[in-house]
Amino acid sequence: MPTSTPTAMSSSSWPSLQPFHTFGLPVRARKISQVTQLSELLALSRASLQANEPLLILGGGSNMLFTEDFAGHVIVNRLRGIRCSESEQAWHLHVAAGENWHQLVEYTLAHDLPGMENLALIPGCCGSAPIQNIGAYGVEFEKVCEYVDVLALTSGETVRLSREECQFGYRDSIFKHRYQRGYVITAVGLRLPKAWQPVLSYGDLAKLDPRSVTAQQIFTTVCQMRQSKLPDPAQQGNAGSFFKNPLVSGETLADLRQTYPSIPCYPQPNGQYKLAAGWLIDQCGLKGHRIGGAAVHDKQALVLVNQGNATARDVVQLAHTVRQQVLARFAVALEPEVRFMGADGEINAVQAIA
Ligand code: FAD
Ligand code: EPU
Repeated sequence: MPTSTPTAMSSSSWPSLQPFHTFGLPVRARKISQVTQLSELLALSRASLQANEPLLILGGGSNMLFTEDFAGHVIVNRLRGIRCSESEQAWHLHVAAGENWHQLVEYTLAHDLPGMENLALIPGCCGSAPIQNIGAYGVEFEKVCEYVDVLALTSGETVRLSREECQFGYRDSIFKHRYQRGYVITAVGLRLPKAWQPVLSYGDLAKLDPRSVTAQQIFTTVCQMRQSKLPDPAQQGNAGSFFKNPLVSGETLADLRQTYPSIPCYPQPNGQYKLAAGWLIDQCGLKGHRIGGAAVHDKQALVLVNQGNATARDVVQLAHTVRQQVLARFAVALEPEVRFMGADGEINAVQAIA
């Protein structure tokens, strides 16, 4: 268990968080531990809680904005292990929370277990996937979820939540609400039906022939589409879509359409419409807009990037500018998808950029 501890009181001597989050900002934490055993994770978490020390469980750090140094203990979840079984109708995977998501997608394809190919190349860990119900190219995590195992840190007990109990929504689940504080996701259970149905509704996938397409072809097409517009965090720090796509009523959409007849929109099952935040930001002429070392990505306006020397303040100010301009032009308020972490714990992202 590599644990980095501070050598002095000043935060400048704390261990760096830069390698542990994809924005790559120059921030530190009082203590960082990487854990591979559940017993270790429980013992360290409980010790922090008992010491009243801020505690953060981190996966791949690909959905995080550290707004300042974190004055507590960051526990990096590296619990590993994949178990596969089958029933008459489906394949079942039990996956430890610290497994890498994209590597799991590759594993399923290598073992002829289709169903996850649309979710290729999403960074981060499997245990984080249920939290915002990760989604891309017409599929969300909930489609493959059978259960999620959650450890209650105070009692040490693990609860297994069914897919229904997870209350999945667009970039939402019970893990952002009732099971947010004092709980750690330790494993996810996935169910991949043997009667595989390709999902070809999104982008270039619609060009594929549903009668002959393979899961591997979908995987390759998804990877190509993603690589053509999303920046690779290894080259340019970022946390994917910085904002969620806003949901609006039919009335609001009708008003917007009067001025912007070509506005992209996606009808939702509850009667609302999802707008494309990237399009709204792009229409404001903000692609490439910079504040300090932070910029709006020039191929996908929904992504804010670290051009190498960005500070957290640069990113927060840029997010503020983007939100204000979209609000002024379209009267639509964007909300961050990225989770904001202050010195003592999570902070309200909307307030931080308002
Ligand atoms: P982290 O950033 O480490 O953590 C996120 C939150 O979850 C934090 O609050 C953390 O405390 C909490 N957490 C992490 N692990 C646990 C645990 N085991 N138990 C309890 N809480 C925990 N997302 C999509 O939905 N679709 C996309 O297409 C997509 N594309 C992306 C592309 C890029 C280039 C990047 C950088 C990000 C993208 N994302 C996308 C966002 C991100 O990959 C997902 O949100 C991912 O699930 C985050 O996983 P993580 O392990 O990095 O979580
Ligand atoms: N668009 C523009 N200009 C831009 C960006 C987008 O006009 O700069 C337009 C596109 O032309 C398209 C529409 O906006 O008409 C939607 O764009 P895109 O297909 O790129 O998807 P998105 O809505 O921007 C969402 C997710 C992504 C996910 C993709 C693919 C959210 C917040 N983002 O992006 O998820 O990969 O769809 O399914 O829902 C993430 O969550 O981090 C993420 C990357």
